[in-house]
Amino acid sequence: MEEFDWKNDVNNKDEKMLLAKRMAKRVKNGETIGFGSGSTSYLTIIEIADRIKKEKIQIKAIPTSNIIENLCKELKIETTTLKENTPDWCFDGADEIDSHNWLIKGMGAALYKEKLNMKASNENYILVDNSKFVNRLGEKHPVPIECKKEKIEEIENKVKQLGATNIEIRKSNIEDGPLITDNGNIILHAWFDKINEHLEEKILQIDGVIESGLFIGYDIIVIK
Ligand code: A5P
Repeated sequence: MEEFDWKNDVNNKDEKMLLAKRMAKRVKNGETIGFGSGSTSYLTIIEIADRIKKEKIQIKAIPTSNIIENLCKELKIETTTLKENTPDWCFDGADEIDSHNWLIKGMGAALYKEKLNMKASNENYILVDNSKFVNRLGEKHPVPIECKKEKIEEIENKVKQLGATNIEIRKSNIEDGPLITDNGNIILHAWFDKINEHLEEKILQIDGVIESGLFIGYDIIVIK
């Protein structure tokens, strides 16, 4: 899934840079850290790499996408997995955040591992610039839902029954056809006028759904 250019395609760059620098200061020698995906995470990783180099710190990263894994290799940051290590803490970006700290994530198509990292850690930092705050979750973004290809039509119908007003298959940015995730699946974008506390769980119960980008009721620390 080398579809995203988080290095060059960064909106609100100045704000994101400030968040990245603040987050990178939290890093301590010997920690295992969950690395999010997206441009805010990208900038944070660059800052962390800078500290590693200058201060001879050693850490292990648990990346949430192949792109971030490759970035770690490039920057010589050791990586590990959730099977081998538990993160001391994680950081990530978000696409939307509401007044309850509920989130929509996954516009970078890395939602599956992003949620695994969040569930595995007791300390999750979410870095949000001003554009991410919404009055109503789902105001600016659809909920991304990672699905098994062969189940896509059934899933679409069931997501409509849950109240989706519009559903599209996420297209690839680099070729004709759907975007294929790191896990070999496809993503539905489902628009909702109302998102309640049960929706994340209900979407996940649909046969063929791998994960959704709804993050409801997680204990997060918001860096803004
Ligand atoms: C990646 O799948 C996402 O969850 C990102 O964290 C989210 O899309 C925010 O992206 P930016 O940091 O690029 O705004």
